[in-house]
Amino acid sequence: MQKKHRQWLLVGVLAFFGTGVQAQNWQVPKPSPGLMPNPASGKALFDRNCASCHGADLKGSDKGPPLLHRIYEPSHHGDPAFQLAAKNGVRAHHWKFGDMAPVPQVTPDDVAHITAYVRAEQRKVGIY
Ligand code: HEC
Repeated sequence: MQKKHRQWLLVGVLAFFGTGVQAQNWQVPKPSPGLMPNPASGKALFDRNCASCHGADLKGSDKGPPLLHRIYEPSHHGDPAFQLAAKNGVRAHHWKFGDMAPVPQVTPDDVAHITAYVRAEQRKVGIY
């Protein structure tokens, strides 16, 4: 094979793997079909997996931001942002707490319950 052709082959292989990796990272995890997200289950799951940083009252801590905050209203951080945060973690971009690590022990169903809980609490304080 000529050198020129080999280079194009390499570009093609890299592009192929590049899109594969991207699709894997940015595919939003989906809860089970027909799941009814339940804020009460969500609260228990939140307390166990998220409250250490986001605060038991959702008002944040010294390790993470409040989720009862305009920034996290549904039109700015929609429900997929919760699924992606749990799966991939979050690179610090709004605050100075540093990155959020992935939370691998929660399932997409767990995150749907957690999101329902956060949305219910947000609505109580006028964030929607
Ligand atoms: C170890 C601390 C920590 C834990 C545990 C944690 N978070 Fe976070 N989370 C953070 C930090 C820090 C940020 C803010 C990053 C930034 O600067 O924007 C964040 C941001 C987020 C965001 C915003 C995502 C975005 O796109 O900006 C969501 C949603 C979120 N967390 C949900 C959760 C959920 C749900 C859980 C539990 C399953 C959880 N977090 C557990 C630290 C944590």
